[in-house]
Amino acid sequence: MEPKRIIVGVAGGIAAYKAATVVRQLTEAGHSVRVVPTESALRFVGAATFEALSGHPVHTGVWDDVHEVPHVRFGQDADLVVVAPATADLLARAVAGRADDLLTATLLTARCPVLFAPAMHTEMWFHPATVENVATLRRRGAIVLEPASGRLTGADTGAGRLPEAEEITTFAQLLLARSDALPYDLAGVKVLVSAGGTREPIDPVRFIGNRSSGKQGYAMARVLAQRGAEVTLIAGHTVGLIDPAGVDVVHISSAAQLKDAVSKHAPDAHVLVMAAAVADFRPTQMQTSKIKKSADPDAPTPAIELTRTEDVLAGAVRARADGQLPNMRAIVGFAAETGDDNGDVLHHARAKLRRKGCDLLVVNAVGENRAFEVDNNDGWLLAADGAESALEHGSKTLMASRIVDAIVAFLRSGSG
Ligand SMILES: Cc1cc2nc3c(=O)[nH]c(=O)nc-3n(C[C@H](O)[C@H](O)[C@H](O)COP(=O)(O)O)c2cc1C
Repeated sequence: MEPKRIIVGVAGGIAAYKAATVVRQLTEAGHSVRVVPTESALRFVGAATFEALSGHPVHTGVWDDVHEVPHVRFGQDADLVVVAPATADLLARAVAGRADDLLTATLLTARCPVLFAPAMHTEMWFHPATVENVATLRRRGAIVLEPASGRLTGADTGAGRLPEAEEITTFAQLLLARSDALPYDLAGVKVLVSAGGTREPIDPVRFIGNRSSGKQGYAMARVLAQRGAEVTLIAGHTVGLIDPAGVDVVHISSAAQLKDAVSKHAPDAHVLVMAAAVADFRPTQMQTSKIKKSADPDAPTPAIELTRTEDVLAGAVRARADGQLPNMRAIVGFAAETGDDNGDVLHHARAKLRRKGCDLLVVNAVGENRAFEVDNNDGWLLAADGAESALEHGSKTLMASRIVDAIVAFLRSGSG
């Protein structure tokens, strides 16, 4: 990506220290970052930290470097403004159109995407004043991230925690790639997403697994939640990904547990996104003690008999056809395919779409350094009505935003 000019605004919340990591990650991605803290923010983190990390001087008011007119120029020149953390007070001042410090003046002059990452106590977050302020900012086109749930300033926990720096940076990069990637257009829609790989136990220490990292499914959950959907994520094994902010996460391990979790949550859902890599086969018997390696190198090796697991995606399609999922309006499958002597990737994917009967199928070509474990992806989107489109190469979050666009279009088309 071309280097961009980013303003990182920092308001005076306990999570201000996390802004330092956001600044570091954005500068390491090659962008030019200027930090604009509030006076209160500098009570939590010193200007020196932000100056050293950004390579630029840091001011809070409009009376420094007046000859450069920073209170107007910073906003005008920026490709993106990120405010992390955004306090309840900062949100209120942004809504009121105040310009009583450099950050609020910058917010008034910015014509680029503005991303607020709020962080505050649960009571402040759910106060009608804050709820209305957030709704107003979203209506005006700003992106206001859902906070995470977890430990707050003191010993208390709840909604209002600042998302991890990696999540904020991921959304910042997404908006730089696609300024219209996060419209708030899925409010009231309940989405069930599965992600990651399953593990089928052979004995207490061994399992049959797969190379799914969970990154694409987590990106789906993340983007869906920030577009307003109520998301439940059924998470299998991943490469240690952090739970997405604003998402209910149910952790499972085996294909059978994944099937049970989908059966439990699907009746509530309007949309099912099956991005998990579910094992097709499991050992018929799980040994209750570890299978021992014989000291005799010529001893016969153990044979593992396999049994087919249930096809969760096809099962959901059947359940909907049988009238058991009356709320379900869209079922989205994922396919990792390779070409072979019988046809190319798309040939196999079209056959899979027909076999599974889902509404949309996301197809990745897999192979050496493709799709699995890596951060970038591309593929195709096939629809049951025969429509096919290419998904451009980019981050898995960018790809997720394109897939969510297709889901929204499907729901709006009246097909779902
Ligand atoms: C220890 C401490 C932690 C605070 N944490 C938060 C917070 O996480 N979120 C918030 O909205 N306000 C928090 N506040 C209150 C703000 O600092 C206060 O509203 C201030 O006026 C915010 O100013 P600003 O929005 O200009 O940065 C905290 C205050 C203190 C003393």
